[in-house]
Amino acid sequence: MKTLALVTSAGSLPIDVDMPLLLKACQTVGLQAQVCDWEDPQVPWHRFDGAVLRSPWNYVEDLPAFLAWCDRVAQRTRLFNPPAVSRWSLDKRYLADLARHGVPVVPTEFLAPDVPEAESRQALQALMDRHPQSGEVVIKPTVGAYSRDVQRFARAAAHLAHRAIVRLQQRGCHVMLQPYLSAIDQDGETNLAFFDGHYSHAIRKSAMLMADGTVHVPTQDLRQARHADAREQAVAAQALQAAARHLQLREPLLYARVDLIRDPQGQPRVLELELCEPSLNLPFSEGSALRFAQAIAHRVGV
Ligand SMILES: Nc1ncnc2c1ncn2[C@@H]1O[C@H](COP(=O)(O)OP(=O)(O)O)[C@@H](O)[C@H]1O
Ligand SMILES: [Mg+2]
Repeated sequence: MKTLALVTSAGSLPIDVDMPLLLKACQTVGLQAQVCDWEDPQVPWHRFDGAVLRSPWNYVEDLPAFLAWCDRVAQRTRLFNPPAVSRWSLDKRYLADLARHGVPVVPTEFLAPDVPEAESRQALQALMDRHPQSGEVVIKPTVGAYSRDVQRFARAAAHLAHRAIVRLQQRGCHVMLQPYLSAIDQDGETNLAFFDGHYSHAIRKSAMLMADGTVHVPTQDLRQARHADAREQAVAAQALQAAARHLQLREPLLYARVDLIRDPQGQPRVLELELCEPSLNLPFSEGSALRFAQAIAHRVGV
């Protein structure tokens, strides 16, 4: 029987709602799967036929250590997705790469940590001028998760938005500026899951940034099953093809999640790619855990 490590972190496992379903599905397809903590030094990674990153979500506290760990483990077993994919996809500056490949992404301006205040103030003004129909702006670090440090500001509070930019820069962050796409207030965002390059299912996730400054954490009650329409599926597939071209991948990604929001014209745009350790929303789609397990089994040669 082929063996598989499902990689988590001790603190995240209790909130990984995909894990129980995936474990059961692995059993169904004849894979001997074991949950492993990426920080446990006792795990014999070389003994597994493959390892799949699932919920090592504390990586945000030390990204370089996590990426170094990915490189080490990838030398001992087949790690999915590969380290080069994680490295690229954990910094949202990849949105610029996708845009260069013609993918419709949420319009984004990037500021390096050393950009002087006068210049960042100008960049903020220019972004607001380019998107007059958007009443608000979003500021976030290029590396982040769980909406951490993501903030929404009204045009009238541009000085506060600028202060948020400077604060992130002072912490050494690259900063992203985007128009607030208000369609999310009605329609939410759409998260599409793909296995082995094939679309599997989607969910609707409610807006996380409230007008009063409150930021939700994306708990289960803010998600529901949703059908992604043909246009959304096409944009998500286009984003994954662009990622594969950019990274010169020889095979489709074993798993991927693409998050989309509609712009004022109704066009779906890529908000985020989750290619390292995405929540895959398996409880919302009958059969999705089995589709994922089958894709894994195919890769490790069951
Ligand atoms: N430009 C935007 N317009 C509207 N909502 C946004 C925008 N950017 C982020 N958000 C909201 O903030 C949340 C977190 O932002 P996101 O870019 O997904 O970062 P992460 O999930 O990595 O923290 C999104 O799920 C969405 O609700
Ligand atoms: Mg997100």
